[in-house]
Amino acid sequence: MSGFSPEWLALREPVDHRSRDAGIAHQLREHFAGWSAIRVVDLGCGTGSNLRGTFHLLPADQSWTLVDYDRRLLEAARETISAWADSREYGDGADLVVMKDGKRLRLRFRQADLNTGLDEALGTAPDLVTASAFFDLCSAEFIGRLAAAVAARRAVFFTVLTYNGQQDWSPRHPADARMLTAFIGHQVGDKGFGPSVGPAAAPALGATFQSAGYVVHEGDSPWRLDQGDQRLIADLASGFAEAVAETRAMDADTLASWSEVVRLGAVVGHTDTLAVPGVA
Ligand SMILES: C[S@@+](CC[C@H](N)C(=O)[O-])C[C@H]1O[C@@H](n2cnc3c(N)ncnc32)[C@H](O)[C@@H]1O
Repeated sequence: MSGFSPEWLALREPVDHRSRDAGIAHQLREHFAGWSAIRVVDLGCGTGSNLRGTFHLLPADQSWTLVDYDRRLLEAARETISAWADSREYGDGADLVVMKDGKRLRLRFRQADLNTGLDEALGTAPDLVTASAFFDLCSAEFIGRLAAAVAARRAVFFTVLTYNGQQDWSPRHPADARMLTAFIGHQVGDKGFGPSVGPAAAPALGATFQSAGYVVHEGDSPWRLDQGDQRLIADLASGFAEAVAETRAMDADTLASWSEVVRLGAVVGHTDTLAVPGVA
């Protein structure tokens, strides 16, 4: 198990989808306009939110490989995509084939630890490698390997909702800034890939893909949470406080006082990245 519950991923999915940068999404759609078919690999797919948020930008005939190391999330992905689709078929060499809004999606679910099984997970010929809410967990070393592997395949790279370290609560608490520093201390710990880049993930992706000869586009995709998002705000604040408590960087009284506040809003910064191979 990864520590990401299907319930948490379901809670954040509509907010993730509405927060995506429209300009980057448009550039992705334009890049593949005129293609009839596409092969996509989704890294750290969870329950399939990225597929549901991206498929409408891509050609009519799509083959997706959904990769995660958490079997429970892969099972949830299969069920959730099946229920979300307009219709489903089986066979055709895929684990599941579904129709949604006139697009045909052939799906394979693959359980793999991306740190050790990246090349196998990417396969030989993806047109697009994508991920959502994933790269702050990764190390700079992994991002370097990933960019080299994607570039060797001359695939397009598209990732959304990469946490960038911006966090603004409403109402504010005097300890917000110190809490954020401690939280970032937790973020840069090892999440299975070696020391994580945490909020430096988007600049690391941008610089690494540029060095690999890619043209990189970036856009902001902040969560702007308000009164319609009370449950997400409460879960976000309690997860944030738990992570801070694990660092032991804050005293118990400050943590308790910070946790007592009922928050009505929050802004959480993210970045979307599209990287396209340069002219060979
Ligand atoms: C924050 S969740 C995002 C899930 C999904 N992309 C979404 O947007 O809802 C991060 C995902 O990465 C997966 N993950 C983390 N480390 C992994 C690893 N080493 N190999 C494969 N998957 C991993 C987790 O299981 C989880 O599903």
